[in-house]
Amino acid sequence: MSTLLAIETSCDETSAAVLRGGNGDVTLASCVILSQDIHRVFGGVVPELASRAHLTTLGSVVDQALVEGAATLGDLDGIAVTAGPGLVGALLVGVMYGKTLAYRLHRPLIGVHHLEGHLFAPTLEQPGFSPPFVALLVSGGHTLLLDVQAWGRYRLLGATRDDAAGEAFDKVGTLLGLDYPGGPAIERLAADGAPGRYRFPRPMLNTVGDEGPDRFSFSFSGLKTAVLRAVKASPDLSRDRADLARGFQDAVLAVLVEKAVVAVETLGYPALMLGGGVACNRALQEAVRRRLGPGRLVVASNRLNTDNAAMIGAAGFFRLDRGQQSGLDLEPRADLPFPGLEAGSPMLGSPR
Ligand code: KG4
Ligand code: ZN
Repeated sequence: MSTLLAIETSCDETSAAVLRGGNGDVTLASCVILSQDIHRVFGGVVPELASRAHLTTLGSVVDQALVEGAATLGDLDGIAVTAGPGLVGALLVGVMYGKTLAYRLHRPLIGVHHLEGHLFAPTLEQPGFSPPFVALLVSGGHTLLLDVQAWGRYRLLGATRDDAAGEAFDKVGTLLGLDYPGGPAIERLAADGAPGRYRFPRPMLNTVGDEGPDRFSFSFSGLKTAVLRAVKASPDLSRDRADLARGFQDAVLAVLVEKAVVAVETLGYPALMLGGGVACNRALQEAVRRRLGPGRLVVASNRLNTDNAAMIGAAGFFRLDRGQQSGLDLEPRADLPFPGLEAGSPMLGSPR
């Protein structure tokens, strides 16, 4: 049995986790997640402040994860760290920390792709969960549909052409005068909003019916503009806020759910996996359950859907079990390509 320390610093969560196991059987011993509140003041993540905050707190976050996971540095058999995509200065803090530990302890270092981490999150709670499945990864930085044929073997079905789903939630949150990040606040507001009072466009929904290259593509920036117009036209935002949130959320979910469900049905797979911060949205989960029927939706708990080091450790274990590791020359990359993407899939990886 191996013990792995995992580190995640790609954006505005400083996180460390201890995991034990190997060969597909992994248990989470601890996971510490420190969210950087500083960005709320600015209504979005300020990269330089994120790097500084990681630098200040990562040491104590790692120490706490080791204590809670009943592990010492000497117990570690490897160190997994997010190598990208993300904010390069933020990634750099975690990568340097991981490299230093790996060098000092003479243990393997595994650079992990952040989105492959999101993909592995449910395995920590549902050990039998395995491919094939369709994954809808929806975060602040990415929106993509993947055909997960096997762990490590992926085919890109579609991605966003502009804003990510979470980014749209955050920007609309700002338009509605809500705190960053907007996603959870919009979900709460929308629950009290009148459905149908604001009917926003469902971007690119019509392409799902044809076999063209944009069948599973997404676009959310036009929707954000439509909400902006409605906000400007509202004589009383405090009265209309919940209805606007509901109209926006319904539009985003309609497209996400339809494309994901059609992908699962087209491929004939048993399950759809939701991952990334937007996967915390209960209305999204419910809509998928309604469409697919019982037992076909796989989604981790909220804590493992938003950024965390536990998922990085789960993906790291998979790579380590395969005998893969990174050199001490590992460099963080804001645009790190998704590992194992089938040829012909566009390269993925863009900064948040
Ligand atoms: O995966 P994540 O923690 O960070 C990135 O890798 O980007 O995702 C954060 C995103 C934010 O845009 C946030 O607004 C969104 O996830 N989010 C939600 C909800 N909770 C978090 N969006 C909609 N509904 C939610 N309940
Ligand atoms: Zn993420």
